[in-house]
Formats: sequence, structure tokens, C-alpha cells
Amino acid sequence: MNRYLLLALVLRFLLVIAPAEAAGPIYKIDKIDKAEDIANASEACASCHGDINTQWKMSVHSSSLLHSIDGIYSYIVDGIERDPVRKGLPLRTELMKCLYCHAPVMEYASDKFVKEVVDAIKIAGGKSANPEGKKKAKDLLSHLNVSCYTCHNMKAVPPPNTPEKQTVYGPGNVTGNTTYHNAKKTMFLDNSIFCMQCHGVYTAPDSERIICSTIAQSYRDQYVAAGGQTTCQECHMRKNNRGHTFPGAYVPDMLKEGMLLEVNARAFKTQSYGEKKWIPAAAITVDITNKAGHRIPDGCMWTSRVLLTVTATDEKDKVIWSANKEFFEPGLDIEGNRRYDTWEVKDILDYSLQPRKTTTEKYYAVFPEHEKLVKIEAKLAYIHKDGLEFPVHSERKVLKYN
Ligand code: HEC
Ligand code: HEC
Ligand code: HEC
Ligand code: HEC
Ligand code: HEC
Repeated sequence: MNRYLLLALVLRFLLVIAPAEAAGPIYKIDKIDKAEDIANASEACASCHGDINTQWKMSVHSSSLLHSIDGIYSYIVDGIERDPVRKGLPLRTELMKCLYCHAPVMEYASDKFVKEVVDAIKIAGGKSANPEGKKKAKDLLSHLNVSCYTCHNMKAVPPPNTPEKQTVYGPGNVTGNTTYHNAKKTMFLDNSIFCMQCHGVYTAPDSERIICSTIAQSYRDQYVAAGGQTTCQECHMRKNNRGHTFPGAYVPDMLKEGMLLEVNARAFKTQSYGEKKWIPAAAITVDITNKAGHRIPDGCMWTSRVLLTVTATDEKDKVIWSANKEFFEPGLDIEGNRRYDTWEVKDILDYSLQPRKTTTEKYYAVFPEHEKLVKIEAKLAYIHKDGLEFPVHSERKVLKYN
């Protein structure tokens, strides 16, 4: 018999006995050769789950590469290309040290596509490039994100299990198959550990530790350890029907909910020892309570800080006394120097606001001798970096002296 005919018969036999692929016609990411492969997979869910897709578009999950482009660009240019050690390692392994969380589907990318994405990051994040080239690069990168597929397939089953193809894992309102895709129920999606896969310290396959987000550690060791019982999903999805918008530190209402501010000020008069004059003064107490499920602020944007300013003004609104305090989480490199770039941070110090705790600041403020009326104002702001700042709360007290 002709060997091609034999091969054809064997193949035919295999096809007949192979289990039929499930209904889902749309998404099946085995290998990504071009941006359209990913774009199509995201669009696929949008056509039927329109509302959820609209919500997800509001969240930073939908732009998790472009939103962090400055940091990822500097990792590629300063971290990989200028470092003889990293430069010698496989580009994919090094890139995944960020994209494992910022764009997990890159796990399936061909070597050619990995290179294309790295080049696009260099153009999109760099300063000099023609506007058209930059736009093209950003278009490509806009498809790389924490997508529906990422959460409902790739990260939806805890290792060592692996997700099945063409299957969406959900909380179980639908079990079994719809006409469009297989659906499997999983408890994992309701568990904080599901979110902690990406929102915590990451150990790469070569054992390098990447400290970007530190929420997972703070949730477990500071919040749950202090008696906290709420899950990430309850606060970030179910509460106020937040659904898939995943609000965080870029959403003013969420920041307001996360921190409470209370100010108490008591007027009294003071005297230097041995002197006769009475001078107006105040005992000021500021209480800040962290109502979130973890420290505020969190790392990654290693410039983030919560700033408390307390000022006293006189009747003419002139500032006569002020104080401020920053709450933050500085990142340190292996030599113990403070760093702002994710790949350099290997250790942290903790000056943040702790969950389930009230932090109290006390001031003994002394004012100019003639003041009869003093206005005390405490303000709380969340600063991501200089120039990107959200006011959170402010509270005033008026003190009178006679
Ligand atoms: C384990 C998952 C994980 C890894 C690995 C990771 N990140 Fe992140 N990254 C996150 C999460 C989650 C956030 C959001 C954190 C937050 O606000 O608490 C984030 C936020 C950021 C931000 C701040 C975004 C903003 O504007 O608020 C930058 C910049 C960043 N990452 C860069 C990097 C770089 C560069 C790497 C690789 C060296 C990296 N990340 C590796 C999970 C990760
Ligand atoms: C960051 C992870 C994440 C991403 C991204 C994500 N989901 Fe979800 N999704 C969840 C979690 C967690 C739940 C369960 C929520 C709960 O238990 O309250 C859920 C629930 C659902 C449900 C069932 C509950 C409901 O509201 O009907 C559907 C359907 C769904 N997601 C579709 C999508 C689609 C479509 C996208 C993309 C547009 C998407 N998800 C993106 C994590 C995610
Ligand atoms: C052609 C329509 C269609 C497409 C495309 C589609 N779905 Fe669905 N999906 C449904 C229907 C119908 C249901 C069942 C009713 C419902 O929950 O809305 C469902 C249910 C779900 C559930 C809930 C399962 C549970 O446990 O309750 C999830 C999660 C989900 N889809 C995710 C996705 C994701 C992710 C994509 C894209 C990769 C996608 N779907 C694409 C029609 C679709
Ligand atoms: C596949 C990884 C991944 C998973 C799983 C994931 N996230 Fe995220 N999440 C990210 C990344 C990456 C960012 C930061 C994107 C950026 O700023 O560039 C982020 C950002 C956020 C933010 C906004 C942070 C800010 O600075 O305001 C919130 C809130 C959030 N995630 C909550 C959740 C919750 C709740 C879950 C679980 C239901 C979850 N995430 C699951 C990767 C993930
Ligand atoms: C008790 C409610 C609550 C719980 C539980 C909770 N969060 Fe939050 N989270 C908040 C509030 C409120 C904020 C806004 C204040 C802030 O920026 O920290 C926030 C902010 C965030 C941010 C942005 C932090 C920053 O400073 O950039 C991320 C990311 C996040 N949460 C993820 C998670 C994850 C992941 C979990 C579970 C491990 C979780 N949260 C558990 C209430 C909660």
C-alpha cells in the first residue's frame, strides 16, 4: 500500500476516535503569534457578557501593561539590557518576571512574538519615537492585560491542576455547558488566595523574588492575623455591586472608605518656665483608622504615600503652625539602599497604615502670643507619585482664647 494512503487512513481513524472538541468555538489560546490572537480572545467574551466587559474596561486589569509601562520599560532597558547577567538569560524568562501577573497570556507566546512585544514596550515607554510608531506600539500592548481568559481559565485552578481548554471556570451559577463554552464550578474564584496569586510577592522559576505588590502578605499577616474575616472579593467585587470594576487606590470613594480621620483639639495656655506671659497652645490628636483589608499604601508604585498635614491658621488665614507625617512602604535593594524600581526592590521597611488599627498622632502646638482664634485643619491625601495625588479626607476644629 502507498505509504501516504496508509498515513491518511491512520489519521482518519485517529480523528474519528478523538473526543469531539466542546462547543466553544471562540477562544482557544495555545500559541500566540500575533496581537490579533489575543485581541480576538478578549472580544470573544465581550460579545455575550457585555455588562461585565464594560465594568472590566473601567478597571486597571484591562490596561495592566500600559498602566505600568514606565516601570516595565525601565526594567527592560535598565534591568535587562544594561545588566550582563540578565542579558545572557532567555528573554522570555526575564520578561515573565513582570508579565506573569501583568499579562499572563504571554506564557503562550512564540519567541517571535515575545521579541515583538519587547520592542513595542521599548517604543511605547521610550521618549524619542515618532508619534505613529508609538501609537502602533501602544495599540499592540493594549491587548495585553489581566483578561477574562486570564482569571476564568489560566489562574482559575490552583496548581498543580491545570486548566482545561475551552472551559470557563465560574462561581457556579451555571454548571455544565452552555451552548457557547464549557462551564465548570470552582470555589477557588471566591477565595482570597485566587487574588493573592498576583497580588503578592512572586518567586520566579529561577528563584528570583520579585516584590511588586505586597498586599497578600499584609492581608494574611496583618489583617487576618488581627481577626479580619472579609475576603478580597467581598470588599472589591460584591460590596456596593462593584462587580468587575475592581476599584482600588485610583478611585476616590474607595480611598475614602479605606481610611477614617478623626481630629480632636483642646485649647490651653502655656508658659515658659520662670516667665509670666501666657501663650495660646493646643493639644491636638489625630486618629487615622485603616478600614481596608491590608496596609495602605501598597508597594509597586514605590513612590506611593499617604500624607497627613495638620495646619493651624489665624483669623486672617495665615498659617501659624504646621506639621506633617507620611505613611509609606520604602523598598530596599540587596545592599539596603532605597529603590523605586520594582526589579531592584528585594526587601521592605514598613511605615504604612496597618489594617484593623488606629494610628494616633499627637501634637503639642504653641501659637503666637496675641492669637484669639485658631483654626486647626487636618488633611489626608493619597499620593501615587509627585503630581498624581488624591485628597481623601479633611476635618477642621476652631479654638478660642481670651
Ligand atoms: C506577582 C505579580 C506581579 C509581578 C511578578 C509584577 N507585578 Fe507589578 N503589579 C502587580 C500588582 C498586583 C500591581 C497593583 C498593585 C497595587 O496597587 O497594590 C502592580 C503594579 C505595578 C506598578 C504600578 C502601577 C501603577 O501605576 O499604579 C508598576 C510600575 C509595576 N507593577 C511594575 C512591575 C515590573 C517592572 C515588574 C517586573 C520587574 C512587575 N511589576 C512584576 C503584580 C505584579
Ligand atoms: C481579576 C480576575 C477577573 C477578571 C479579569 C474577570 N473576572 Fe469574572 N469573575 C471573577 C471572580 C473572582 C468572580 C466571582 C465573583 C464573586 O464570587 O462574587 C467572577 C464572576 C464572573 C461571572 C459570574 C458571576 C456574574 O457576575 O454573573 C461571569 C459571567 C464573569 N465573571 C465573566 C467575566 C468576563 C466576561 C470577564 C472579562 C470581561 C471577566 N469575568 C473578567 C474574576 C475575574
Ligand atoms: C456566545 C455567548 C457567550 C460567549 C461568547 C461567552 N459566554 Fe460565558 N456564558 C454565556 C451564557 C449564556 C452563560 C450562562 C448564563 C450567564 O451566566 O450569563 C455564560 C456563563 C459564563 C460564566 C459563569 C459560569 C458560572 O459558574 O456561573 C462565566 C465565568 C463565563 N460565562 C465566562 C466567559 C468568558 C471568560 C468568555 C470569553 C472567554 C465567555 N464567557 C464567552 C454565554 C457566552
Ligand atoms: C493575573 C493576575 C491578577 C489576578 C488574578 C488579580 N489581579 Fe488585581 N491586578 C493585577 C495587576 C497586574 C494590577 C495592576 C495593574 C496596573 O496598575 O498596571 C492589578 C490591579 C488591581 C487593583 C487596582 C490597584 C490600584 O492600584 O488601584 C485592584 C483593586 C485589584 N487588582 C483587585 C484584585 C482582586 C480583588 C482580585 C481577585 C478577585 C484580583 N485583583 C486578581 C493582577 C491580578
Ligand atoms: C475590608 C475590605 C477590604 C479587603 C478584605 C481587601 N481590600 Fe483591597 N482595598 C480596600 C480599600 C478600602 C482600598 C482603598 C484604600 C487603599 O488604597 O488601600 C483597597 C485598596 C486595594 C488595592 C490598591 C492598593 C494601593 O495602595 O495601591 C489593591 C491592589 C487591593 N486593595 C487588593 C486587594 C486584595 C488582593 C485583597 C485580598 C487579598 C484585598 N484587597 C482585600 C478594601 C479591602
